[in-house]
Amino acid sequence: MILIDGKKAAAELRAELREEVAELKSKHNKVPGLTVILIGDLTPSQIYVRNKEKSANEVGLKSEVIKYPDSVEEKTVLEKIQELNSDETVSGILVQLPLPKHIDKQKVIEAIVPSKDVDGFHPMNVGNLSSGYESSIPCTPLGCYLLIKKIEPNLSGKKAVVVGRSNLNGKPMTQLLLKENCTVTITHSKTKDLKAECLEADIIVAAVGIPELVRGDWVKKDAIVIDVGINKTDNGIVGDVHFDEVSKNAKALTPVPGGVGPMTIACLLKNTIDCFKRSQI
Ligand code: GUN
Repeated sequence: MILIDGKKAAAELRAELREEVAELKSKHNKVPGLTVILIGDLTPSQIYVRNKEKSANEVGLKSEVIKYPDSVEEKTVLEKIQELNSDETVSGILVQLPLPKHIDKQKVIEAIVPSKDVDGFHPMNVGNLSSGYESSIPCTPLGCYLLIKKIEPNLSGKKAVVVGRSNLNGKPMTQLLLKENCTVTITHSKTKDLKAECLEADIIVAAVGIPELVRGDWVKKDAIVIDVGINKTDNGIVGDVHFDEVSKNAKALTPVPGGVGPMTIACLLKNTIDCFKRSQI
């Protein structure tokens, strides 16, 4: 079984991006900039944002974090986004989720100009991705896609099962696999016979948020299994895939942690650079 090393893949991607940033700097005399807005003091969000900033600096991006207290007014955030939309030194804007209840998430997402939407959450980018046009692609599914392509460069005709239908992961993942000519089945917590669906799959992407849902006897021999789950349990952090069981069957499997997670942040840097490049044309 191939243990898919997301840490190594992310480090390789960051090294490529570092070179690309250096080339862009010599060509344009400026570097791509990422601005992250962090509202409140949720610990996981703070850790994510710190890691994002560290990685952005490592590849040579200009990086800025704007912090607001939990009590900040929605208007203040929307005005800041407008300011960043027209700031030429800002290539990408990310508002860390989740947001406090009094702030309308969709309003915030739609306030970001699509050309700087490094999350790929704006309806314009969602639509462009589903139509097969150029767009920002949500970072986690993009990371999964790059890991799958490393194992199997030609996905044409493969059967893929995506477990989970979120806007963040399942739906964009489906679009990426469709673009590669996979036959894709989207399943979720209400699917009648999830095991039978998974048993058909050459590729399984589990992004449903249920600890160790995908069992060993759900997986065809030689399937590629990507685990997006990060679930806190009494036994520590586990994915949506039962690692020990599935590792006996699968051709390749991502661990949790150390699989998809590191790729997500590297893909955010890639998206920032891609936004910059599109803005220079
Ligand atoms: N919170 C957890 N994951 C994400 C993500 O991919 N983007 C944003 N903006 N917030 C998140």
